[in-house]
Amino acid sequence: MTTTSIDLTLEIWRQKDSAAQGDFETYGLKDISTDMSFLEMLDVLNEDLTRKGLDPVAFDHDCREGICGMCGAVINGLAHGPEPKTTLCQLHMRHFKSGDTLVIEPFRSRAFPIRRDLITDRSSLDRIIQAGGYISVNTGGTPDGNTIAVPSTTAELAMDAAACIGCGACVASCPNGAAMLFTGAKISQLSLLPQGEPERKERAMAMVTAMDSEGFGNCSNERECEAVCPKGISIRNIARMNREFVKAAFF
Ligand code: SF4
Ligand code: FES
Repeated sequence: MTTTSIDLTLEIWRQKDSAAQGDFETYGLKDISTDMSFLEMLDVLNEDLTRKGLDPVAFDHDCREGICGMCGAVINGLAHGPEPKTTLCQLHMRHFKSGDTLVIEPFRSRAFPIRRDLITDRSSLDRIIQAGGYISVNTGGTPDGNTIAVPSTTAELAMDAAACIGCGACVASCPNGAAMLFTGAKISQLSLLPQGEPERKERAMAMVTAMDSEGFGNCSNERECEAVCPKGISIRNIARMNREFVKAAFF
């Protein structure tokens, strides 16, 4: 494959902190290799800004391998950009063409205050996990993996839910700012398995309560969350969460 380079115009949201007024700034970039990742393209911009004595654009990232959930921005209205099932760090510049204008914004939501530029505080998702996204077990010797038999179809469903990396793209894309895809996935991955059974009701009640108290909205079946999720989490997990919650509340 031949490497080509492209010229871009970037409109990037700049905001000093959560109290400051933010606005878009325009930057021109030339000769960006189409082999670069989106974050490498932002690195090039930041090197240029730093050389000029200007503030680099703040953005979150860690693994750059699509597994940690730290990266994320909205590109031309799409969380994580235009490629389906792809995190921002795994998005490559070959998906854009020379002359494109890219509007780059943070994941906006009431429960995700902007810290600086493209960085938002997504610790509200951590607090949902802290409310019940675990199982209590006695530590000790490693139990035999086959001690509790789990049907393969059930194990597959639990693994699919466990693929959620907690990036928050689902929240940023939902017109209601709902975290139900995230919370549904986290409840499902445990409630489907026998190891999650003892705390099943308390978990559903605690996590849904935490989700509400963090200021997230409710699902109205827009399915925007499912469309942008880089891990292909299905909204069936939202239906399962609702069933788990109803069982915990009334049965
Ligand atoms: S459900 Fe998908 S979009 Fe939402 S936090 Fe998990 S991985 Fe990210
Ligand atoms: S930086 Fe870890 S998923 Fe993108």
